[in-house]
Amino acid sequence: MKNKPIGIFDSGIGGTSIWKEVVKLVPNENTIYLADSKNAPYGEKSSEEIIALSIKNTELLISKGCKLIIIACNTATTNAIDYLRENYSVPFIGIEPAIKPAALLSKTGAIGILATKGTLSSKLFEKTTKEYSKIITTIEQDGEGLVPLIEEGKLNSPELTELLSTYLKPMLNFNIDHLVLGCTHYPYLIPQIKKIIGDNVTIIDSGEAVARQTKAILEKLDLLSTDLSKGNHLFYINAETKVLKEILSDVSVEFKVQKLDF
Ligand code: DGL
Repeated sequence: MKNKPIGIFDSGIGGTSIWKEVVKLVPNENTIYLADSKNAPYGEKSSEEIIALSIKNTELLISKGCKLIIIACNTATTNAIDYLRENYSVPFIGIEPAIKPAALLSKTGAIGILATKGTLSSKLFEKTTKEYSKIITTIEQDGEGLVPLIEEGKLNSPELTELLSTYLKPMLNFNIDHLVLGCTHYPYLIPQIKKIIGDNVTIIDSGEAVARQTKAILEKLDLLSTDLSKGNHLFYINAETKVLKEILSDVSVEFKVQKLDF
């Protein structure tokens, strides 16, 4: 079991921001990544639909023998992780907007959260924001339209910059000092985001924290790979492979990308 792969899934290519951190921290683990780009964006779907897609991805990863599954998608985590944990015995690691660190670090008492509609409307998100509502004000913004542009590889398009400005500039009027990126696609927008929000707002994304949590759980469950060579990495995508390959062009480890209908 120890040398079986870690499974990772996302609505598309965004979860690679998590995968990159995981591979840095546990380089000898094998991984299988599912990019469900055909069904992106999840954030505009109902909770029931997001759960159904998460089940489909989970069952495929289990059929490939995965020892642990990382839900590298805030929208899928906040809507489906409870269901998945109740119904499958494989351990799950999820990702949700990092409200806690932002709340504890904030000096102005106001933080911005950019996430999908599916995340912002989830029960889990509501529960977490409620918990911190005594110490901070959260300015929430639905990033509608951003995920499809990222999936199309239009990271530097004027269209995307304009959308980001519309979403982020109003937050500055609330004197936010932290911006939580509540979607795993958004770390790819950090250079553009910085140009809009300036140096006084700290960007928080949870990629590294998810990688640390993955390592801790593998240790706790005695599931760390015993193979000392570099891991094998396989990406399955149910749409064109071009943008995924572009987004992975900065990694130094070897990987394979394969188109698969799932
Ligand atoms: N990467 C997903 C997330 O973290 C994007 C969701 C979507 O497809 O809308 O929320």
